[in-house]
Amino acid sequence: MLCEREKYDKISEESNRKTGDDMKIIVSGAKGQLGYDVIKRLEALGIQAVGVDLPELDITDADAVGAFVSREKPDGFIHCAAYTAVDAAETEKELCSSVNEKGTLNVARACQKNACKLIYISTDYVFSGEGEEEFETDSPKAPCNHYGASKLAGEIAASENCDKCFIVRISWVFGVNGKNFVRTMLRLSETKDELTVVCDQVGSPTYTEDLAVLLCDMIKTEKYGVYHATNEGLCTWAEFAAEIMRLAGRKTKIIPVASSEYKTVAVRPLNSRMSKKSLDENGFSRLPAWQDALERYLGILNEC
Ligand SMILES: NC(=O)c1ccc[n+]([C@@H]2O[C@H](COP(=O)([O-])OP(=O)(O)OC[C@H]3O[C@@H](n4cnc5c(N)ncnc54)[C@H](OP(=O)(O)O)[C@@H]3O)[C@@H](O)[C@H]2O)c1
Repeated sequence: MLCEREKYDKISEESNRKTGDDMKIIVSGAKGQLGYDVIKRLEALGIQAVGVDLPELDITDADAVGAFVSREKPDGFIHCAAYTAVDAAETEKELCSSVNEKGTLNVARACQKNACKLIYISTDYVFSGEGEEEFETDSPKAPCNHYGASKLAGEIAASENCDKCFIVRISWVFGVNGKNFVRTMLRLSETKDELTVVCDQVGSPTYTEDLAVLLCDMIKTEKYGVYHATNEGLCTWAEFAAEIMRLAGRKTKIIPVASSEYKTVAVRPLNSRMSKKSLDENGFSRLPAWQDALERYLGILNEC
């Protein structure tokens, strides 16, 4: 009997056999959580991956980006680089916008000039976070913080300046190469008997290793458009934390609190439910359940 991830890999392998042509893909944000796993996945598929990050290539430098893409002549560009410090973005607005909007504009223009496909990674934060319904890909946008506004501006820059553009919105990201909520919870559980975690923000975690499988399949197609691609299933941050403790065998008690009792510099959306309809309609597999992804992730962390 195949586990969820094995089934997911099998479907991906079949689609790779059908489209196993030679490709060269640039991956920005190569030293970040997602970029790292995308490069690993491309290499596992035998696809040539060119990873870039600071300081070698600053995406806010239009000339450098243009020259780099023209020299490499890639078939695709998976754009994972971003300014991702959500709270700091409220005080570093200019820097955040320069990376997420202007940097993306530079990447999109370079891709267009070289007739190269672009995947821009975006976020649930482009939506208002109001209500309890799922956001469709074309639901109205109304970011509640500066990071979300800058990522929305990046979406517009990507789609208006590159014809071969995919936009993939994700949320609550965790991966082996970087800091994230899971690692923070594990670290705090070493010294705390109790942890207060918000229980009124609902969304879906995204495991970069699973997302990388989808992105590497997607870049080979011409099914341009907007997608939502988190792991399957919903939870609150408190439920996510409780599952981390359970699976990691930690005794720390998770105390659920309302967002109003846990102030952050940037406002967070309460509702991050996102519809996967466009994945289904275009024949892409949904990612495995978040609990399954978390269990595999904790297994990998244990081996490190
Ligand atoms: N993390 C989340 O929870 C989350 C949720 C929704 C969507 N996303 C989106 O998912 C994507 C990947 O996120 P992630 O968690 O993998 O991010 P990450 O770990 O923060 O990696 C982003 C990478 O981009 C680099 N970068 C920053 N400014 C740059 C510049 N001017 N030029 C070139 N590279 C630059 C960063 O370098 P430095 O570290 O040196 O700055 C870092 O290596 C991003 O588009 C993000 O907006 C993330």
